Amino acid sequence: MSRVILGLAMVVALLAFGTTAWILTERLTEPKTVSGEGVVVAPAGIGGPFKLTSDAGKPVTEEVFAGKYALVYFGYSFCPDVCPTGLQTIAAGIDKLGEDSKKVVPVFVSVDPDRDTPDQLAQYVDLFHPSMVGLTGTAEEIKAVAKKFRVYYALHKDKDPENYPVDHSSFTYLMGPDWKIVAVFRHDATPGNIADALKKVL
Ligand code: NI
Repeated sequence: MSRVILGLAMVVALLAFGTTAWILTERLTEPKTVSGEGVVVAPAGIGGPFKLTSDAGKPVTEEVFAGKYALVYFGYSFCPDVCPTGLQTIAAGIDKLGEDSKKVVPVFVSVDPDRDTPDQLAQYVDLFHPSMVGLTGTAEEIKAVAKKFRVYYALHKDKDPENYPVDHSSFTYLMGPDWKIVAVFRHDATPGNIADALKKVL
């Protein structure tokens, strides 16, 4: 009888140990995401490696942001209002962080490479924040990175081949120092919402 109890006790102990080990492993491997005002639930696996061109005309990958947080926004510099609002919000959010603002890079990824040359982007991002980086690339490279971030965009060149409008989704993606998603902000998130989310991880 006591052997049966001893056996059962061992099974219980092993199960408890196994469960604890499993929970610890899950905790360590689960992505560090934050929630809060203006934040939507990030779809699993959003983001990923990319190859683009910087506003200095140099090839870049996600490795250029290693060790820093990045606030990433997709749009186009000829956008009449949506992009300027989003980029102003990002810049104001970063400026609320004081010294910690140095740990965060604002990134504007163009979905309109024909008009958004590196030079055009360099001038455009300077209007919003001194540390803002503009990225562009070939149509194929942009399509690939947009797909990884589930960004929707459509160039309406049929309406006007030169001054064409571009439809695009307008979320802001907070990427961690390991280029893993930390938070996705709605377009109506405030600078305070962005700063609050960053303060949780910085
Ligand atoms: Ni826009």
